[in-house]
Amino acid sequence: MADTLAGKTALVTGAARGIGRAIARRLALAGCDVAVNYYNSHDEAESLCGELRAMGRRAVAIKASVGVPDSVDELFAELRKSFDHLDILVSNAASGVLKPAMEMSLKHWRWCMETNAFALNLLAQRAVPIMPAGGRIIAMTSIGSVRAMPLYGFIGASKAALESLVRTLAQELGPRGIRVNAVSAGAVDTDSLQFFPNRDRLIASFRERSPAGPVLTPEDVAGAVYLLCLAEANMINGHTLVVDGGFAISG
Ligand SMILES: NC(=O)c1ccc[n+]([C@@H]2O[C@H](COP(=O)([O-])OP(=O)(O)OC[C@H]3O[C@@H](n4cnc5c(N)ncnc54)[C@H](OP(=O)(O)O)[C@@H]3O)[C@@H](O)[C@H]2O)c1
Repeated sequence: MADTLAGKTALVTGAARGIGRAIARRLALAGCDVAVNYYNSHDEAESLCGELRAMGRRAVAIKASVGVPDSVDELFAELRKSFDHLDILVSNAASGVLKPAMEMSLKHWRWCMETNAFALNLLAQRAVPIMPAGGRIIAMTSIGSVRAMPLYGFIGASKAALESLVRTLAQELGPRGIRVNAVSAGAVDTDSLQFFPNRDRLIASFRERSPAGPVLTPEDVAGAVYLLCLAEANMINGHTLVVDGGFAISG
């Protein structure tokens, strides 16, 4: 791939594993220097940075919990030591509680909302002052934002809030030349799916119903993020781009 994003800088949250790791790799492949945010996965983050540096990119691993204001302040203080500006922010990190809504508590609600939705605002508030025109903010969401999925109630609600916030930020930041979009992935067999008691059924259902399937990879999702970063995507703003091989439109 040509260096279509040469000289650009990116921050990817939750980049040590899964889809975030594939996004960081894809952006680096396209020419970006990358700040690799992690929370627990220090070794994986450092090994990814080693890989990106071997590609000739600058890469720095930065620990932070994305839903916590002080922690996000520290993330950006650290980022500023390596990068004087930020062109691309990918809010990918997510966490949550898989339980029936009838068993959920306020603590569960706050954890899902703060980590999965509020984080985007925390990150955007700190990124935008150092983001030039042409900048991109991309948030990772899921079909659970618009469909009721067993045990996914609070995470789904947080993803719905996230998509709504994407639209608001797109409106607020549009005049600055910054585009804000969401990417909604179908079922990707990352570590997160191991926590779903219905994992096998989810994957089987995806295999059956995705016309472009049978498997959706982290690289497929990273490709969509990459597309939104291109100059040609300049008029795509406030959109949720579904990357699921046609799963959601299949009866
Ligand atoms: N997998 C799917 O089928 C699927 C489908 C649709 C949408 N998505 C979305 O795609 C994104 C990535 O999913 P994934 O499947 O790749 O997840 P994953 O493999 O479970 O990885 C989750 C990532 O989030 C990070 N993280 C969790 N809590 C964090 C916190 N408080 N602060 C900072 N980082 C935190 C983790 O970092 P550490 O390991 O460093 O703690 C990890 O890198 C998520 O937004 C998810 O909702 C996934």
